[in-house]
Amino acid sequence: MFQSLRKPERDRVTITVNGHPIEAIAGQSVWSAMALNGQTITRRAALSGEDRSAYCAMGVCFECLVEIDGLPNQQACLRRVTEGMAVTTQEITETTEATNAGL
Ligand code: FES
Repeated sequence: MFQSLRKPERDRVTITVNGHPIEAIAGQSVWSAMALNGQTITRRAALSGEDRSAYCAMGVCFECLVEIDGLPNQQACLRRVTEGMAVTTQEITETTEATNAGL
């Protein structure tokens, strides 16, 4: 679906997305690394639980929120990949927030 226009000889790093290792080009955005490896879902909508994905890819819409190295609410379109980075689809919903708050 997505194809990179960058030359393949650039430095590569390995990150994990939902526990699966993928290769990415050093300096590319987390979102582009995910999309080029077929992972276009970034989070679940907080109220409906529907799949969400990047929309603007420039830091405006906040549709691309993921967890990076255990830290939630990271914009995948703005963060750059680094070696060993662990990215997970963000699952914060109305139900999980209530659970986390002890309600
Ligand atoms: S895709 Fe819009 S802020 Fe990341």
